[in-house]
Amino acid sequence: MAFLLYSLVVVTIFLTTPTISTSYGGNETDHQALLSFKSMITHDPNGSLTSWNSSVHFCDWNGVTCGKRHRRVTVIQLESRGLTGSLPPHVGNLSFLRQLNLTNNSFHGSIPDELGRLSRLRVLRLGDNKFSGVIPTNLSACSNLKELSLWGNRLVGSIPKEISFLSELTDIELDDNDLTGGIPPFLGNISSVEVFSVSGNPFGGSVPDTLGRWKNLRVFTAGECNLHGSIPHSIFNLSLLTGFSLAENQLTGSLPLAMGTMLPHLVFLQLRNNNLTGLIPPSISNCSKLQVLEMSINDFNGKLTIDFSELKDIYAIFLNDNKLGGHGEADEMKFIDSLKNCSKLEILNLNTCNFQVELPISIGNLSKHLSFLNLAINQLHGNLPLSIGNLVGLTVLHLGGNRFTGKIPFTIGKLQNLGVLTMYDNQLAGLIPDAVGNLLMLIGLDLSTNRLEGHIPSSLGNCHHLSLLDLSNNLLVRKIPKQILQLPSLTIWLDLSQNSLSGSLPTYVGDLKMLTYLVLSFNNLSGNIPSSLGSCTSLSLLFLDDNLFDGEIPQSLSSLKGVEGLDFAHNNLSGQIPQFLERFLLEFIDLSYNDFVGKVPVLGVFANRSKFSILGNSRLCGGFVELGLPKCKEIKKKNGFLCSL
Ligand SMILES: *[C@@H]1O[C@H](CO)[C@@H](O)[C@H](O)[C@H]1NC(C)=O
Ligand SMILES: *[C@@H]1O[C@H](CO)[C@@H](O)[C@H](O)[C@H]1NC(C)=O
Ligand SMILES: *[C@@H]1O[C@H](CO)[C@@H](O)[C@H](O)[C@H]1NC(C)=O
Ligand SMILES: *[C@@H]1O[C@H](CO)[C@@H](O)[C@H](O)[C@H]1NC(C)=O
Ligand SMILES: *[C@@H]1O[C@H](CO)[C@@H](O)[C@H](O)[C@H]1NC(C)=O
Ligand SMILES: *[C@@H]1O[C@H](CO)[C@@H](O)[C@H](O)[C@H]1NC(C)=O
Ligand SMILES: *[C@@H]1O[C@H](CO)[C@@H](O)[C@H](O)[C@H]1NC(C)=O
Ligand SMILES: *[C@@H]1O[C@H](CO)[C@@H](O)[C@H](O)[C@H]1NC(C)=O
Ligand SMILES: *[C@@H]1O[C@H](CO)[C@@H](O)[C@H](O)[C@H]1NC(C)=O
Ligand SMILES: *[C@@H]1O[C@H](CO)[C@@H](O)[C@H](O)[C@H]1NC(C)=O
Ligand SMILES: *[C@@H]1O[C@H](CO)[C@@H](O)[C@H](O)[C@H]1NC(C)=O
Ligand SMILES: *[C@@H]1O[C@H](CO)[C@@H](O)[C@H](O)[C@H]1NC(C)=O
Repeated sequence: MAFLLYSLVVVTIFLTTPTISTSYGGNETDHQALLSFKSMITHDPNGSLTSWNSSVHFCDWNGVTCGKRHRRVTVIQLESRGLTGSLPPHVGNLSFLRQLNLTNNSFHGSIPDELGRLSRLRVLRLGDNKFSGVIPTNLSACSNLKELSLWGNRLVGSIPKEISFLSELTDIELDDNDLTGGIPPFLGNISSVEVFSVSGNPFGGSVPDTLGRWKNLRVFTAGECNLHGSIPHSIFNLSLLTGFSLAENQLTGSLPLAMGTMLPHLVFLQLRNNNLTGLIPPSISNCSKLQVLEMSINDFNGKLTIDFSELKDIYAIFLNDNKLGGHGEADEMKFIDSLKNCSKLEILNLNTCNFQVELPISIGNLSKHLSFLNLAINQLHGNLPLSIGNLVGLTVLHLGGNRFTGKIPFTIGKLQNLGVLTMYDNQLAGLIPDAVGNLLMLIGLDLSTNRLEGHIPSSLGNCHHLSLLDLSNNLLVRKIPKQILQLPSLTIWLDLSQNSLSGSLPTYVGDLKMLTYLVLSFNNLSGNIPSSLGSCTSLSLLFLDDNLFDGEIPQSLSSLKGVEGLDFAHNNLSGQIPQFLERFLLEFIDLSYNDFVGKVPVLGVFANRSKFSILGNSRLCGGFVELGLPKCKEIKKKNGFLCSL
């Protein structure tokens, strides 16, 4: 019984297994070409080609599609499979192939010339691989080719002239290769082009005027292509353009004032980092679909008169590093008013634009989604409007490098999402509002170089993410609150220098175990340097100069092994210069104008005259000869210790 059952099962299996034969009823050439393809794959981490075996018809292999009737391979779609290998010339035998999609794998070697035999090929996508060599001239024989996507490879040489024979081409995507030889004018002959995307190639040359013949062009991106000259005006005739980027080139000249009216469908416009001059075209007001406007780092000048009120989808505006202000007109930032209906705005960068007015109150009407606002390095003056507290979506706010006066608005405490706040280099006065302690997400706070008075608010101790705090160069007084020294998050920078802080340095400073830079120079701090400072073992720079510290440098500082710069100058420190300093890998140490006594060490940093200073310590001796100090007299004290005086 068991035997019978077994036989039955075997027979059944045998009968249902597909017949294995050398003929597939299709084209054996296709079969052989696919086997060659597989044989060149050296790594297939997910077993994508496991089904490419003799018990399965090749038309059913993973990623392969055949025509229903003729059973010839029409599509190979193996995108993002982690395949490593090269592409064999045999692929050129798949004469019915319409699509070859190998995007995002690790194919290397050259793109075989034999692909030129694929006269039915419409889609060739080899992007995001490691193909090298040139773009084969023979591809020009693929007369039905619509999409040529070779971005993200290591292709060299120039775009072959013969490509212009491909009269059906709609997509040319060659970004991020090493192509040279300019963007060839003959490409203008391919009137079908809709997407031309070649950013990140060292092409050189200029943008050819002939590209203005691409009446169907929707996307044009040629950023970082080392292009110079001006943008030919014919490009602005391409009224279907939705995406236009020539960022990071060396383009000169000005933009046509009617540009925005000529390109009404623009969604992104990226011309950052060129040498463009003239007005930013006011007609951009007409680009009602615009989402991204990047005109930063150019020489644009004249008043910015874009009316943003119709640009309902805009989410990023970069105009930084231009000369947009400074015309002495009170309304040079009137465009801010028009931004109030842009409810998707997330980024507004107006850094270094030469604006010279008071910040309009309407800044507070900007989108609740506004996350990044940079107004730094202009000449904005007057009070900061209270309305700034309405921008509750802000994560980054830069107001530094202006001439703001008055107080820091207490409404700043409403910006609960703020991670970075900089107001350095203004003329802000009054107290630092306690409300900064409400900014629980704060990572960096820079209020340096203002006229801020009073004490450092202990509420800053609530900011448990704070890793950089700079309050230097203000008029702050009283003790350093222990609460800020107890913030383990302070890992990067604590600068309280150039104030009038007094009292001793709290021993809690030893809690700053991860801090890299501690700068307390130019205050009235007094008392001993706390030995707990030796716990700050991440310190790279320690500046305690120009205070009233006295006593000795504590031996505990011998644990600060990573410190590269030490400044103890202009205090009342005494005792010997600690021997352990010789072992530190210091770039410099300043011990000048204290009252150190005894022997100057000779090793480590003390062996290089340009790296240390001991001036103004009248009781030192020894050191290396050029210092001209008296020799140390070694006195054997009663207790047996050697002492140098
Ligand atoms: C052949 O492919 C089929 C389908 O993926 C699979 O089930 C089978 O295990 C494969 N055979 C071999 C020998 O790899
Ligand atoms: C392998 O397959 C898994 C699950 O389908 C997927 O998450 C992973 O990204 C694949 N890896 C590669 C290299 O294709
Ligand atoms: C590329 O493929 C890998 C799997 O090999 C996948 O994890 C990754 O997400 C893909 N990248 C893109 C951009 O599709
Ligand atoms: C297919 O292509 C390869 C290489 O291009 C060639 O050697 C082979 O003879 C071609 N024909 C067949 C039927 O495989
Ligand atoms: C199979 O394809 C090859 C190459 O395209 C061609 O030379 C050959 O005639 C085809 N054979 C059949 C039976 O279709
Ligand atoms: C081929 O690759 C692209 C990415 O380049 C992908 O978006 C597309 O869906 C793939 N094509 C097919 C037919 O699956
Ligand atoms: C490349 O194209 C030339 C000219 O059409 C042709 O003679 C040559 O055979 C092609 N090379 C391959 C490998 O198909
Ligand atoms: C473009 O095509 C015209 C004819 O259509 C031809 O005369 C001209 O030489 C071509 N230009 C280039 C640069 O190939
Ligand atoms: C823009 O197109 C118009 C109408 O087709 C044409 O008259 C004009 O010469 C074109 N301008 C440029 C700079 O190509
Ligand atoms: C573009 O501007 C940069 C920086 O101002 C300058 O160094 C460069 O020479 C300028 N290039 C041209 C082509 O004007
Ligand atoms: C917007 O387009 C209209 C119609 O083409 C035009 O009259 C107007 O001047 C344009 N606006 C700007 C600011 O250029
Ligand atoms: C802007 O929004 C206000 C309502 O918040 C509306 O009254 C006004 O018409 C809008 N302006 C434009 C130009 O859409």
